[in-house]
Amino acid sequence: MRHAEQITVAKQLLRFIDTETTALGAEVYRQPIAEYTSSAIAAHEAQTFFREQPLCVGLSHDLPGPNSFRTHDLTGVPLLLVRTADGKFKAYLNVCRHRGARVAEGCGTSRGFTCPYHAWVYGMDGVLINRPDEPSFVDVERATLSLRELPAAEQHGLLWVCPTPGRNFDIDAWLGPLGDELASYHLSAFQHYASRDLKRDMNWKLVIDTFLESYHFCVLHKQSICSIFHHNLATFDAYGEHFRLVSPRKTIHDLAGQTEQDWRLLPHIVVIYVLFPNTVLVWQGAQVELWQIYPGPTPDESRFRLTLYSPEPALTDSAKRHWDKNLDLVLHVVENEDFPVGEGIQGGMHSAAQTHTLFGRNEPGLAHYHHCITQRLGEGTGVTR
Ligand code: FES
Ligand SMILES: [Fe+2]
Repeated sequence: MRHAEQITVAKQLLRFIDTETTALGAEVYRQPIAEYTSSAIAAHEAQTFFREQPLCVGLSHDLPGPNSFRTHDLTGVPLLLVRTADGKFKAYLNVCRHRGARVAEGCGTSRGFTCPYHAWVYGMDGVLINRPDEPSFVDVERATLSLRELPAAEQHGLLWVCPTPGRNFDIDAWLGPLGDELASYHLSAFQHYASRDLKRDMNWKLVIDTFLESYHFCVLHKQSICSIFHHNLATFDAYGEHFRLVSPRKTIHDLAGQTEQDWRLLPHIVVIYVLFPNTVLVWQGAQVELWQIYPGPTPDESRFRLTLYSPEPALTDSAKRHWDKNLDLVLHVVENEDFPVGEGIQGGMHSAAQTHTLFGRNEPGLAHYHHCITQRLGEGTGVTR
C-alpha cells in the first residue's frame, strides 16, 4: 500500500474508531443457500471460475531460481510450474504426451523431466527431447509432442495460470487498478517459508467468507485475536471484482501524536485482498499469507493451501521459531475457531431452516463478493435473491 493510500486508510480507520462505526454496505444482503449446496451451480462454477480465467498459483519465490519447478494439483487439472534457465515462468499440463503419466512430482530444480513410465524426456521448455525406441514412434513428429503449455504470467511477484490451453489472458487488464496496489508490496522479494494443505467439509466460498468480516472477531475469537484487533471495524474498497479489507490493530493509536506525513500504517493493520474468485492474500506484520481455495469433490467440500512467506530468508533457528510460531497462530485460529463453525453452517444448510443467509450492512465485503459471484454465474442457475 503506497504511502498516500496509507494516510487515507488511516484517517478512515481512526474516524471509524472515533465514531464507533465501520464501512457499511447499502442494504442487508440476502445470500441464497443454494450457492453453497447445489451440484448444478458447482458445475457451472467449475467451468466459469476454474477453467476460463487466470488463477493465482503462488508467489514468485515458489520457483526460487532458474530451472526450478513445482507441481500444483488444486485446480482439478495437473499443473507443472517451471522457471526456465533464463528465468521465465511457464506452466504446462503435467501429462506425458505418450500415455499420459505425470512427468514430475513435488518441487525442486532440474534440467528436465523424465517420464517415470517409459522414460520420454522433456526439457524445461516443455520440448520432447528424447524417446526410447524412436523408430517405433517415427510416424508422429517429436516436435508435435511438447508438454501442453498453458497461458501463464508473472506479475507483481505473483504467478498466474489459466488451466485451459490457448485461453490467453492479459494480467494487467485482469487486475485493473489493484495491480499498482499489489506492486507496492514488492512481493517478488518475499520468501516461501512453509505451506499447509487443508481439507474441510464446507463449500469453497464458505472458506473465503471466513476472511470477509470482523464482526465475529471478539465473539468467536474472544480467547485468541480479540485483544489484538478492533472488533467489527474495517475499511472496504472494491477494485472491480477484486477487493480489499483493512482491519486495525489496537496499536493504531500509536499514530496519534505523529504528523500525517510520518504515519506508517502497515505495522498497525491486517490487509486482506480477495483476488477474485478464490485467492485470499493476507498482509500482516510484514508476513504474507496466500490462501488458494478450491472446490472439493462435492459442493460440501473444499481443498486449499495456506502458504506463509517471510520478508527475508529464515536462516537461523530463532528466525525459524518466529515464523513457525506465526504459522501455528494462523492455523490455530482458523482450524480450531473459524472452520469448525463453517462446517456447522454447511451442515445446517441442508436443513429446512432457511433459504438464505444474511450479510449485514457492516459486512460489505461479503455482499460484494457474493454479488460478483452471482453476477458472473449469470442467469440460469435458478437462484433468486
Ligand atoms: S507415459 Fe510417459 S513415457 Fe510413456
Ligand atoms: Fe475468523
